[in-house]
Parts: sequence; C-alpha cells; structure tokens
Amino acid sequence: MQTPSYTFTPTRSANEALLHALAERFGAQLSTAQAVREQHGRDEGSIAAPPPDAVVFAQSTQDVADAVRLAAAHNTPVIAYGAGSSLEGHLLAIDGGISIDLSRMNQILSINAEDLTVTVQPGITRKQLNEALKHQGLFFPIDPGADASIGGMTATRASGTNAVRYGTLRENVLALEVVLASGETIRTGTRARKSSAGYDLTRLFVGSEGTLGIFTEITLKLYPLPEAVSAATCSFASIESAVRTVIDTIQMGVPIARVELLDGPTVAAVNRYSKLNLREEAMLLMEFHGSPASVQEQAQTVQDIASEHQGQAFEWADTPEERTRLWTARHNAYFAALQLRPGCRVITTDTCVPISRLADCLLASLQEVQASGIPYFLVGHVGDGNFHFGYLIDPDDSAERQRAEALSQALVARAIAMDGTCTGEHGIGIHKMHYLPEETGPGAVAVMRSIKQALDPQNILNPGKIF
Ligand code: LAC
Ligand code: ZN
Repeated sequence: MQTPSYTFTPTRSANEALLHALAERFGAQLSTAQAVREQHGRDEGSIAAPPPDAVVFAQSTQDVADAVRLAAAHNTPVIAYGAGSSLEGHLLAIDGGISIDLSRMNQILSINAEDLTVTVQPGITRKQLNEALKHQGLFFPIDPGADASIGGMTATRASGTNAVRYGTLRENVLALEVVLASGETIRTGTRARKSSAGYDLTRLFVGSEGTLGIFTEITLKLYPLPEAVSAATCSFASIESAVRTVIDTIQMGVPIARVELLDGPTVAAVNRYSKLNLREEAMLLMEFHGSPASVQEQAQTVQDIASEHQGQAFEWADTPEERTRLWTARHNAYFAALQLRPGCRVITTDTCVPISRLADCLLASLQEVQASGIPYFLVGHVGDGNFHFGYLIDPDDSAERQRAEALSQALVARAIAMDGTCTGEHGIGIHKMHYLPEETGPGAVAVMRSIKQALDPQNILNPGKIF
C-alpha cells in the first residue's frame, strides 16, 4: 500500500456571494479573521491543510440549518467544529468551505434523572456535562483524553478509559436531532432504552464524522455515581506481563471499570508533565466501581492475577482528589508525550483487536517501533484491546514521516489480520482513509458511499473524509 502524501488545493472555496449572504444572515456570528479560520482549520493530528474560508458561530438549530442551506445553494462544503480535539484530520477544510462552530450550543436541555437520560446541545464538553450532573449523583462516563465536545464524540463514536465497563458512544446515544445536507432537520430515536422501529438511523449517524449530518441535539444514557470507587496502579517489569494480566482479567469476566496501560517512558513523561511520582515502569492504571463488597472482590481478583504475572503490589489512590490527579494525568498523557520531542507532530495509531490477540498485536508492534528508532509513546485502553502508539515526528522531515506511516501501516495490517480494526475510537478522518477498504472490503465501502450519495448528493458535508 502506498502512503498518501497530504497536499490539498481547495476547489470549492466560498465565493463572494456566499460570504455576503452569510454576513447578512449571521452578522457578528460570522468571522473571516485569519486567526479564527486557522484555529478552525486544524486538529490535534499530524496533517495540515488551508483553513476554512469563514467560521459561523451557531447558536441554535435554525442557525445550523440556515448555514447549511446557504452553503448548499453555493455548492460549498460545511464542516462541523466542536472542540478541535480530533486526531485524524476530521476538521480540515481540504476542499475549502465553511466551518460551523458549535461551541456556543453547549446547553443541557433536560436531565431526566428517573430515566437516567440527558439531552444536550452538541457543543457541551464532557467535563461541562459531568460538572452539571454531579450534584444529582449521576455521571456520563465516556472520556476520551481531551475535553472533547459531546457532538464531536458522537461524530467519531468516541470512547476512552471507561468503555470497558460502560461502552462507547455507540452504546450510549439514545436519540439525535440532525440537520441534513438539505438543511432539513430530523429526529432519530427516542428516550426509550430500546426500539425495533425501522432502520437504526441513530447508529448510522453516530460515527459518521460530519459526513451525513450535523447534530444539534443529543440524548445520552446516564449512570448513577457508583457507591464505591477504588483506583490503583500496578507496575510490571515487562509490558507483556501487564498485558497478560489484563487479558486474564477480561477473560474471567471481572467487571473492571477502567484498565489502562502506559509503558515506562510514557509514565516518565506523565510524571514530568503532571508532577507525579509514579514508578517509571510499565504500569496498569485501574479503577473498580460497585458496592463496597463488589469493589473489594474485583480488586482482590485482579491483584491475584497480577501477582501471577509478577506485578508489584497495588498502590491505591483512595481519596477522590488522588484519583482525580491520576486520571487527569492519564487524560493528559497525549500532551505530556508531546513534550518528549518539542516541536513534533504525532502520528497516532488506534488499533483495537479481540482481547485474546492483544499481547501478540501489541508486542510485535512494539518490537518494530523500538527497532525503528522513532521516538514514541504507548498508552492503551487495554481492557478493550485498544492501544495507541504515538510516533513523534519532525513535521519537516518527510522521510521520517514515511517511516512512521510504514510502522502504522504494519500495525494496522497486523490488527486486521487478527480480526481487529484500524480505529477503536478516533475515527477514519483523512489519515486512516486508506485502511478502510482493507478492513471492511470494497463491498462495504461501496454501501457506505451509496448512503453518503443518498443523504448528501452534493457532497457538501465534510467532504473528503472516511472515503
Ligand atoms: C488517549 C487518546 C489519544 O487515549 O485517545 O489518550
Ligand atoms: Zn485513547
């Protein structure tokens, strides 16, 4: 497989007539300032493109619908923007167009504590949401590293550290309000826990990466804050021992809430960045949720498994403050690792494999990256079989980029051969596009294209992403 080169020459930039119409409709909610456009034209990934031509700061569903209609009338792309934390080039205006910033649509529309549901606008971030929920004894567990927006998380079918127990956005979105490419607004799903009514459009839109519609309302499942929570770290002399501990834990059916792997150098980076004192060896960072008795039982089981694999004794983080420090440090691991090589960009891998193949997949890829000499970090939501290498590349060194892409390619091929996926949680975007046919086969990609064609015949919604 050839590694694509990423240079973009937009062919569908907004013309004067569209910019004029947008200015008339949106006034001060429209910006064409260079700095604002540039901020909306990049994400946390490694690919660069020219910025969008303008940014609309939407405040209502009507704003989104009107912006989409105006853009459609001029055959100009629109790209939804939440927090800018995606990793695979999702937000890049590679063919020109308008960015629709949804961060001002960050209200909670209703909390139904009795039903354990909440309906939010797409621009609310996961931390904003949990801040508002905590006084009710409820939480929304899905937590990618960044403080991403719920809209963006829904668009990428995101997950994070809690997915091993609570699932991903796939399992936790009940209903959506979506603005389609025509500017029409539809609803999918209800607040009922299940439904057999027609095609599951909610599931189709979740993970559609802004290519099928723009979310304006999202209804999510909530969970009661667990009665007891316990977090622990455990260090291992080898990554293999840590991984084998995780595999045994999952295979025994322990309902562990979080189980994260960091390799020794990544722990060192986290220590520096977050001013912690963790032992700089391969480490599992774990959390147990449940009744006090169940938490104790789970912890005991995992401790027994870890000691069979020569794990060190557990170190407990007992107070909420200690746990918050640890998990904040984990969430910032990506940013901590960036400091390992100042000025670098990161090529992030996101493979996810069935749990029995985790050790084979991870260890073979580790050998390859170590042999390559490219600086890297390693973190993983290993309870899901999902892990990330971040290759820290010099953005001006194209040979190094090619070598990192080759490592990524080898890892993806390995994961797919093990019945896994090229992306567990970040999405395809631009950067993983060439892996999709390899994973699903051309027939499935053709079905995806037909759906895209039916819903967005002009190809204005985030064009050039996924396929
Ligand atoms: C994380 C992001 C990179 O796990 O997904 O920190
Ligand atoms: Zn992750």
